[in-house]
Parts: sequence; structure tokens; C-alpha cells
Amino acid sequence: MFYVNKKEARLIILQRIELCSNILKKIRKLFGRHFFSNFITKFFLNSKTIGKSYYNRMHEEFKTFEKYIDHNDKNVLSIGGGMGGLEVILNNNSEVNFFDFIERNFVSKKVVYGWSSNNSEAYNNLNLQSEFLVKNGLSKIKFKIFDFDNDVLPSKKFDTVISLYSLDYHYDFDLYVEYLKKNTHNESKIIFDTVRPDFFKSIFKEVIILDETIKRVHSSKRLICKNFLN
Ligand SMILES: C[S@@+](CC[C@H](N)C(=O)[O-])C[C@H]1O[C@@H](n2cnc3c(N)ncnc32)[C@H](O)[C@@H]1O
Repeated sequence: MFYVNKKEARLIILQRIELCSNILKKIRKLFGRHFFSNFITKFFLNSKTIGKSYYNRMHEEFKTFEKYIDHNDKNVLSIGGGMGGLEVILNNNSEVNFFDFIERNFVSKKVVYGWSSNNSEAYNNLNLQSEFLVKNGLSKIKFKIFDFDNDVLPSKKFDTVISLYSLDYHYDFDLYVEYLKKNTHNESKIIFDTVRPDFFKSIFKEVIILDETIKRVHSSKRLICKNFLN
């Protein structure tokens, strides 16, 4: 399980609404997203239970791409990794040297899931993310977190880029396309969830479909893409 305090549990639930108990899901439906995000999640969550279920879910997610990770994967970029539980698990099961995280440092008032053409939705706090990573075993010297809205983004050739339910799930791949072209090499793996897998055959030389999710927020496919066509 992960060690999680109340504030982190709240963010995990906003990032992974499926981890919410059925009763809380009903309350959310009944009283609305604003009340749920700004009141219920602040006072009525069991952080121990969420620490367990978040760990189990991130472990399942890791399994979906585990066989593609090898000893050459040293530099990982996480785009919209939320609290970063997946990267902790990846760190425990690989030879990765360094994790760069690009995330955002605010929580939307209403938290609306779905496609946002202006990328206005976010639910994270970068200090809490950093504390979470360290207390769950990712050494401080092994990662850096970048604020998408305020920082100069990291510049290096990443071996693996991971963005579950973020890039091209909530906002357009286009937002990062030039950045990713500059900061990957021909063998880099870009792993993300999308509703339009076929589109990526026109962007990458290699596209592998890993997994299919039927109706989470919307139905999507998880891809590993390699080698930009141009
Ligand atoms: C649905 S959550 C998924 C979190 C995590 N990947 C997971 O699977 O648990 C989407 C995440 O994307 C982040 N996000 C939104 N816009 C972003 C952007 N432009 N760059 C990086 N992260 C972003 C949000 O703050 C949020 O943590």
C-alpha cells in the first residue's frame, strides 16, 4: 500500500474518481461536482483505504506495459502523472535513473472530467506530490517536478514518456507534440490513453495497442508509440 495523508487522498480521488466508494459516488451524483470536490473529498475520505486501492490500481496499470520496459529505459518523463504512484511502482521494478514530472499546481473548482479543448482542468498540488513520492520510496535525488504553467520544461532525450488518462485523453496531443519531438529519440516509447488510436498511425512509425478501457470517463485505448514520422 501507499502512505497517503488526507490532502493527498483528496487529490488521488479527484485524479482517479473510480477509486471512490459507491456511497461517495452517489453523493457526488446527488449533490454535484462542486460540493463533492470542495467539501466531501476534504472531510469524508479514508486515507488508509485510498492508499491501498491506489496502490493496487497503479500496480494493475503498471502490468499493462511492464513487458515493454527494459534495461535501456533510464530517463522517464511523466506527463500528468497525478500523485505519481505509478512511477513509484515503475521505479521499484526497473533500472530507471531519473523521473521528470510535468504536472499542474492547482485544483479546478468544479473538476469536470472529459475532453477540454483549452486544457483548463487540473487537480494536483506539486508540494504534496513531492512529499508523496519521497515517503513512498522515490528518493529526492531521483526526480524533479515541473509546473506546466510556470516552469521551463525539461530538455533531454527521454527513453520513456508516460501519460495515463491525461495527454490526448483530457486535452489534445498537439499541446505536447513539438516538445516530444525535440525530447525523444527513435527508440523512445510514448505511452498514453486516447479515444482516436488510428490517428496516431499518421504521426508515428510504430503504434502498438496495449489495452482497451470501455467507458471509464470515455472509452479509450492505451498505446505505445515510437518514432515520429516527421
Ligand atoms: C485524470 S488525471 C490522471 C492522473 C494519473 N496519470 C493517473 O493515471 O492516476 C489527469 C492529470 O493530468 C494533469 N494535467 C492536466 N493538464 C495537464 C498538462 N497540460 N500537463 C501536465 N499535466 C496535466 C492533471 O492535473 C491530473 O493530475
